Amino acid sequence: MARTKVTAPVVVCQGRADNGEIGDPLTRISEIGGRRFPFLRWSVLRLLLGMRGLTRNWQVGDGREEALAAHVLAQARAGDLDDAIRVIDDFCATRSVMINVGDEKGEILDRAVQRVSPGLLLELGTYCGYSGLRMARVMPADARFYSIEFSPANAEIARRIWAHAGVGDRLTVVVGSLGDGGATIDRLRSEFGFTDGALDFVFVDHDKNAYLADLERIQEEHWLHPGSVVVADNVKFPGAPKYRAHLEAAEGKTWRTNEHDTHVEYQSLLKDLVLESEYLGEPA
Ligand SMILES: C[S@@+](CC[C@H](N)C(=O)[O-])C[C@H]1O[C@@H](n2cnc3c(N)ncnc32)[C@H](O)[C@@H]1O
Repeated sequence: MARTKVTAPVVVCQGRADNGEIGDPLTRISEIGGRRFPFLRWSVLRLLLGMRGLTRNWQVGDGREEALAAHVLAQARAGDLDDAIRVIDDFCATRSVMINVGDEKGEILDRAVQRVSPGLLLELGTYCGYSGLRMARVMPADARFYSIEFSPANAEIARRIWAHAGVGDRLTVVVGSLGDGGATIDRLRSEFGFTDGALDFVFVDHDKNAYLADLERIQEEHWLHPGSVVVADNVKFPGAPKYRAHLEAAEGKTWRTNEHDTHVEYQSLLKDLVLESEYLGEPA
């Protein structure tokens, strides 16, 4: 069955270089013809150099995650969710790029949450809490949101940022992983009300090699219901080919997927795909 392709408009952030000066020579080098060229930014080169550590400890290794938290607490108005998101996007565009979903893909995520209007949301991969802030902004006021994060240090940063933005009581980060032998799944069931058919929305944005296994774990737990939606980031870059192939094979049977053509966060050169998949239920 043919799947729907959605091409989003390119979002180009403010034209600033890593040193924060608008219109300086670095900006002109890294932004040509209105497009953002990520490899000309030092913070991106540093991130690429730290790639090994990033997939082990899930921090770049130069302290940028802690620096982001300090920056948000110092620069964003306390209790102002919009301002926290604005300050993070600005930090990523002008200081250090982060592995948040970002502004362009964030809008795809926003629209999906708005369409579903979920009562219970699950995120896989919290990092510094940026996508959690975006989802808090558009989810219903009484929705419950749980984000699973492997790294205790990242979880603590997200908690600090969420508290400052005034949404600490609406967003919960759970340290663990769905693949940790049952401990996290048991907690979700016993402490947080994950019962059969209760889960309306999932954002998958953690270890790309775990996307498919964790989707299967969620299905095996029977938490989804027909109409539940799963959005997955980075399906093209760094890439989750097995996840994509699985959903392609299940098209029209268990899942119906829209593929959103988009770009890797905070630049407009590297292409990426966000998958938005509606669960149709298990075939009879
Ligand atoms: C790409 S970042 C998430 C970005 C975040 N969703 C955002 O847009 O602001 C990936 C995060 O997933 C976490 N992670 C990696 N493997 C994981 C796993 N198996 N379970 C839960 N979290 C994991 C990492 O520690 C890292 O913080």
